[in-house]
Amino acid sequence: MNTNASTANKYQLLGRIQAISGALFAIFLAIHLTNTLLAGFSAEFYDAFQQSSQQFYQLPIVELGLIILPLIAHSIAGVYRYLLDRQSGRRTRLGIKLQTATGFFLLVVIWIHILATRGVAYWFDAEPGFIGVAFTFWWMPVYFYPYYFILFMAGFYHVVNGIGTIARRFANNRIKITPAGRLGVLMLAAIGVSAALLSFGGVTHDIPDPRESDYARVYSDFLGIDLYPVTE
Ligand code: HEM
Repeated sequence: MNTNASTANKYQLLGRIQAISGALFAIFLAIHLTNTLLAGFSAEFYDAFQQSSQQFYQLPIVELGLIILPLIAHSIAGVYRYLLDRQSGRRTRLGIKLQTATGFFLLVVIWIHILATRGVAYWFDAEPGFIGVAFTFWWMPVYFYPYYFILFMAGFYHVVNGIGTIARRFANNRIKITPAGRLGVLMLAAIGVSAALLSFGGVTHDIPDPRESDYARVYSDFLGIDLYPVTE
């Protein structure tokens, strides 16, 4: 087999691994992003949805098979494919460039996000829930508003664009979405997540004091955050 054919086979295999692992992770992500949007309605709605859906995605076998392993496989296949693209000098469309950029961003922040939320719940028995996320906005609003906005939009774009690519492949490119349609969907997502973040931040809804949560206690103990600073 010549080098070109072997590289093409490798590229195709990596593409399959990426598609399958991405589709598996997308099941969790669809639940998770829907959950986030529900924060725009109320804290109770967000927590109730999260508690019932966690009974599914936090079953050890599901958490491993639908979240952790697909994430690892997807990241490795994605980086490998990107390097092959660079090697061959393959040109890509803007949509694919954005897919790669959001993928790299998520690759960097996702493990921090998992440790900061699920990790703290698992090792310190401090489930974040609505009030835990609200605490991060009380603590560092200038950082967490843009961070969560970009995280949500990157995850949303990456998963919707990725599923669209798989669907088009199955439908032999008969599915067409206009640029205006894409923009419209992204705008709706941006409005939805902004409403959710303002709710977490206590701007649009009255929320309990986030400093009283177990999650805030863990962060305060570890990072020495003064939860009740004396102001003059
Ligand atoms: C505004 C956006 C987001 C917020 C407020 C948020 C919040 C949270 C919270 C509170 C948890 C812990 C509760 C739980 O595990 O169910 C969590 C876990 C997690 N989040 Fe996010 N998240 C956001 C966006 C994302 C995005 C875009 C991704 C992926 C691309 C993501 C991936 C995960 C994963 C993998 C877990 C661990 C799930 C588990 O194993 O239980 N999150 N997030």
